[in-house]
Amino acid sequence: MSSELNQLLCAILSAFLVYLLASFFSELIYKADEKKKIKLSYFIEKPEQDDLSNKSKETAETPEITEVVLNQLLEKADLKSGEGFVNKNCASCHDFNMPIKNKIGPSLATIFNRKIGQLENYKYSKTLFNMNKEWNILNLYYFLEKPKEWAKGTKMSYRGITDSSKLLNTIKFLKENSLKNED
Ligand code: HEC
Repeated sequence: MSSELNQLLCAILSAFLVYLLASFFSELIYKADEKKKIKLSYFIEKPEQDDLSNKSKETAETPEITEVVLNQLLEKADLKSGEGFVNKNCASCHDFNMPIKNKIGPSLATIFNRKIGQLENYKYSKTLFNMNKEWNILNLYYFLEKPKEWAKGTKMSYRGITDSSKLLNTIKFLKENSLKNED
């Protein structure tokens, strides 16, 4: 009887000992891990976060569209469809032929690579007038996609071209038409 009790006590004690040892070592390992984490975060995460605040915001708001990509896409765009789209959607406010003639909106006959908001004899919004950029492919893309977002305060009431192939066709027409008119 007593030896059975002894065995039982022994078993309980050794189980307890194993438990103590296990928790002691696991704590050691855990602590070491924690230290590692803190060190890593100190050295790695900080600069990454600085990076994030600049880069990911940009990429979150705007798709990865570069001038090179756009130029490649423009090669495949359809000039004739662009002309049709522009006649239907822009010609009520914009003229596209020489000599320069403004309507509700400024003439777009020579829009490509022209300074933004600087055509003489047209009264632009302050937004476009003060923009200090040129109508390159990228700026045309962003403006025509969402005029009011890209140029907050523009007085162009057109809501933008959501269909990207129509947008590309339109830019192709604006570019080709400009180059033709500047010859
Ligand atoms: C309801 C009239 C209206 C329509 C439709 C319209 N626009 Fe405009 N657009 C304007 C006005 C007004 C401005 C001047 C905006 C300002 O000063 O903020 C303008 C400005 C522009 C400019 C800048 C010109 C410059 O000299 O800097 C471009 C480019 C342009 N529009 C392209 C287009 C295209 C392409 C379309 C058709 C897809 C279009 N717009 C449709 C009224 C219109």
